[in-house]
Amino acid sequence: MPAKLITPSEAYLQSYLTVCRDCKARGITAYPLHDPDDFETWRHTIFQSYENKHLGIGLKEGRVPSSTFWLVKGGEFIGEGNIRHCLTEALERYGGHIGYCIRPDYWRKGYGTLQLRLLLAEAARLGLPRVLITCDEDNLASARVMEKSGAVYQDTIGNIIEGIPTRTKRYWADTVPCPLTPPKGKDQKWTSSA
Ligand SMILES: CC(C)(COP(=O)(O)OP(=O)(O)OC[C@H]1O[C@@H](n2cnc3c(N)ncnc32)[C@H](O)[C@@H]1OP(=O)(O)O)[C@@H](O)C(=O)NCCC(=O)NCCS
Repeated sequence: MPAKLITPSEAYLQSYLTVCRDCKARGITAYPLHDPDDFETWRHTIFQSYENKHLGIGLKEGRVPSSTFWLVKGGEFIGEGNIRHCLTEALERYGGHIGYCIRPDYWRKGYGTLQLRLLLAEAARLGLPRVLITCDEDNLASARVMEKSGAVYQDTIGNIIEGIPTRTKRYWADTVPCPLTPPKGKDQKWTSSA
């Protein structure tokens, strides 16, 4: 059964919780999942909260609407991605349009790249022709996932994140492939009509 991207669903909640516990135990902070120790608090609100963020209801100051997706396979939660519907000045410097993570026991099997490609298709459906994606300068895995998904490096800038100086790499990715014009003669090549 191939992995697929879905709207977060109750059917994968226990698997998601297991991954939240694993990420917390490993001290992974690059992409925030829920705190497993507060499960009883968020288990009843998680899906409505995602829906509200998608619709832009009750957003905190400075936040923009965003859509969350889960990558799942065979009953297991594999990863999560979040698409911000627009940028703010802060997101232009750090965060960009798309954030993502893959559960640690599935790293280096291609799921990060698959998930970002599926997220780019969702971004296109949300009306975003190009997206900004950022990562810490030392996050080699995230940078490689972006490059393998066709994102183009823009620059590296300095940020202060929660009081800590950070170097942030910024990439842009097209969410829709250029439409191709078929060759008219046998000597002509496929060309982009965009
Ligand atoms: C970043 C992340 C999503 C990558 O997921 P993944 O499933 O391991 O990615 P893939 O298997 O598709 O690997 C893609 C490429 O990255 C490379 N890669 C993966 N982990 C790497 C690492 N630790 N160091 C260097 N390269 C790495 C892979 O080798 C592969 O490149 P290759 O095909 O040229 O060999 C995952 O490490 C993760 O969830 N990290 C924590 C959260 C995070 O950092 N999110 C991004 C915030 S900006």
